[in-house]
Amino acid sequence: MHRPSSGTAPTGVTRAGAGLRISVVGCGYLGAVHAVCLASLGHEVVGIDVDAERIGLLARGTAPFHEPGFDEVLREATGSGRVGWTTDIAAAATCSVHFLCVGTPQLDASGGADLRFVHQAFDSLRPHLSPGDLVVGKSTVPVGTAGELAERLSREACGAGLAWNPEFLREGCAVQDTVRPDRLVYGVCEGDERSARILDVVYADLLAAGVPRIVSNLETAELVKVASNAFLATKISFINAMATLCDATGADVVALSDAMARDPRIGSGSLAAGLGFGGSCLGKDIRALYHRAEELGVADSLGLLRDVDRINQGCRELAAELARQACGGDLDGRRVAVLGAAFKPGSDDVRDSPALAVAQMLHAEGAVVTVTDPKALDNARKQCPQLVYADDAEAAALDADVLLLLTDWPEYSLLDPTVLARTVRRKTVVDTRHSLDAPAWRAAGWNYVAPGRPHA
Ligand code: UGA
Repeated sequence: MHRPSSGTAPTGVTRAGAGLRISVVGCGYLGAVHAVCLASLGHEVVGIDVDAERIGLLARGTAPFHEPGFDEVLREATGSGRVGWTTDIAAAATCSVHFLCVGTPQLDASGGADLRFVHQAFDSLRPHLSPGDLVVGKSTVPVGTAGELAERLSREACGAGLAWNPEFLREGCAVQDTVRPDRLVYGVCEGDERSARILDVVYADLLAAGVPRIVSNLETAELVKVASNAFLATKISFINAMATLCDATGADVVALSDAMARDPRIGSGSLAAGLGFGGSCLGKDIRALYHRAEELGVADSLGLLRDVDRINQGCRELAAELARQACGGDLDGRRVAVLGAAFKPGSDDVRDSPALAVAQMLHAEGAVVTVTDPKALDNARKQCPQLVYADDAEAAALDADVLLLLTDWPEYSLLDPTVLARTVRRKTVVDTRHSLDAPAWRAAGWNYVAPGRPHA
């Protein structure tokens, strides 16, 4: 690990008062949060995106997504005048540090990453770079991408450098994860100390607060991100595989996970069994990592990632099967109430949401599926217009043959089973996230079912 420098910007880097002038290209979840947090750290930031609607919202101080704490920092940064928003990439010309924060979605069935937006952003930024500027990649990319971009800058001799600085923020705690991350990783070209010094100025407050900083080559930095996500996905699928074993033996996966987590080498993070992972990152990243390993001829070593993906898909199928069993084996015409649409609590994101995936499976078998969610109803409606939506749990549960808890919003654990018992047609609840107080639900007359837990 390299020691941070004093916080003085290297010459040629444009200063704005105490901070730097920074552009953030791509204002999706990652970019918007990053831009606003950089402004809160005292830098002058311009957020740039091709999506005029998104830029319009941000410029008015309105968050384009639900993220706890983001509205406040956005309003503060907008009010301070330290962050501006535009669709005009030429605005980057006044800045000397440029973060690339565009998305890298899954390409197709091959599982590879689509780098179109990275290349488009880089190409559009390139004419506005000046000698001494630093381009910093934050997008999650296949290992080798940063090296190609660095080589291009050096071939074109524009005098700008390139570093890779992956992001580890989680949706639902994005602001906290950005201003107090577990670690900062700087990937730099061999012998490039200047880029690390510039990043030290960008993150001076974080370093002063003791956030550890690791300097590596570009390839390692790219891999830290995907390897971390692959590890988290593996932990989740591991405990879900154990849940299957619990179902086969009468063991309880909740107690198992709790006991395993007490070993500090294992830890409790990403060890909650249930419906498995979804969202825009873990699934896409394990597939892209496997695809890259195939390209590099080392796929044999990463075959476990295929199992991780398969086990995860199995969790969704098991949830559908438990609903089917609760309805006597045939879902046609049955009423299913679904609690949760977001891929995880604290978010309105429904991309690859396990909850919506299960809801769609049941709908495809003829069930009338009514979904509720505290924050994600609008996004869910857009993605799955064929489902029925209700404003709250009670409305969703009306005359239901089975109630499914699919996203572990804390408010669902507070639901009163006695009240809901009066609303439903049949009192069976499938608690795929192990959120409910099983004895209390049973005492209220419910047939309580949960993957990996003994049935009473
Ligand atoms: C994930 C990583 O946790 C971040 O570190 C990373 O920066 C981010 O991807 C990214 O690449 O941008 P995120 O997708 O926001 O963050 O969500 P997680 O909290 O990791 O949850 C992912 C999924 O796993 C959710 O569907 C969640 O319900 C599920 N999960 C999580 C479990 O099934 N069990 C657990 O124990 C934890």
